[in-house]
Amino acid sequence: MNLFHYYLSNMFVGLSKEQISSLSGKILRADDQLEKIKQSGKQGFFDLPFDKVGLKIIEQKAKAVQKKFKRLIVIGIGGSDLGARAIWQAVPGDKMELIFLSNPDPDTVAAVLSLPAKEWKKTAINVVSKSGSTLETMINFMTVRERLIRSVGLKNHAAHIFVTTDKGSQLESWAKKQGYDILEHPKNVGGRFSVLSVVGLFPVACGGVPVAKLLAGARTIEILEPAKFAGLQFLHYQVGKTINVLMPYSDRLACFADWYRQLWAESLGKNQLGPTPVAALGAIDQHSQIQLYNEGPNNKTITFIKVEKFGARLKVPKGMPGLEYAAGKNFSDIMHAGLEGTIGALTKNKRPSATLSIHSVSPEALGALFQFFMIATAYAGEFYGINAYNQPGVEEGKRLARLRLEKS
Ligand code: PA5
Repeated sequence: MNLFHYYLSNMFVGLSKEQISSLSGKILRADDQLEKIKQSGKQGFFDLPFDKVGLKIIEQKAKAVQKKFKRLIVIGIGGSDLGARAIWQAVPGDKMELIFLSNPDPDTVAAVLSLPAKEWKKTAINVVSKSGSTLETMINFMTVRERLIRSVGLKNHAAHIFVTTDKGSQLESWAKKQGYDILEHPKNVGGRFSVLSVVGLFPVACGGVPVAKLLAGARTIEILEPAKFAGLQFLHYQVGKTINVLMPYSDRLACFADWYRQLWAESLGKNQLGPTPVAALGAIDQHSQIQLYNEGPNNKTITFIKVEKFGARLKVPKGMPGLEYAAGKNFSDIMHAGLEGTIGALTKNKRPSATLSIHSVSPEALGALFQFFMIATAYAGEFYGINAYNQPGVEEGKRLARLRLEKS
């Protein structure tokens, strides 16, 4: 089953014949390395779509949460936040309200705390932190927890709290003592590769997203397409196209582009190397970024995500002079025409672009897109010759922030 098509014919512009013919050798070498990584069991994200036991646990726990609560506050940051957020925006469920809390912006946190006292009885919290020590997540969690306790009482509050963290983390041992429900973050899966684990799936399953369908979609991804995607981006990087834009033409995929941005940046930006990912949104950014993409420095590749069929059907009304060419057309035709026009202009200006086309924003297609980009990232790591799975630059920032707080 093909959940999407990857149209790459416009990606060859600006590449030499030698570069293009080097691609298959590069992919073969990366295949070998990735097979070794897979076999070593050190990077578990490859196998998550096949984890039936994990899926069952998630579905069962989510059902129990739905029965008791009407709202879930999901607290995490980076890889412990963006995946679930992207799923919820794209294919929201109708079983519970989900509130995502990531930034320790006092205004945002205060807005969550302002839920009326009686609402907390029906509110659960899922704190997500692999390390169990991320400052932003922990202070948001402790603050919301305190508010919960004020409303439901210390004795009752434990049943409201679900903790997703690594086995052996400080958070895990503390949470155990508090009597909280603990969901185990898979040890061999890094934050930004964890969307198809309990990290991304548990909160959205509580909200009613059919998470089995996401995994089914992810299982359809074979390695060749993402390998080609990563390979072509890398070839362009070598000739100065160091910016990789992802531009879905769908509001429902705006957060997906944010998720991609983190995955690509944090995985590949190392050793003074790495592409700069940009999240854009069609058609809005036609009126914001496209001038730059067409006539600014020729240093970008642009990948579009096209949605063939939107959920709603709307027609453009007739009667506005000057708008006769659009009147009576479907809104989806307008989105598609904008996309085709943008691709045409980029091609004319010799700017490389590619399109991932999905039939609709379904859980299956979304799961396939997640797995496509995670596998592409693994390949890109091999091409750049870097470890795509660590984030020393982030750890250093965390350490310095802590030092500053200790001194102040
Ligand atoms: O992808 C990553 O590893 C990071 O973005 C982390 O997810 C982020 O720093 C949050 O870390 P943690 O889950 O340990 O709280």
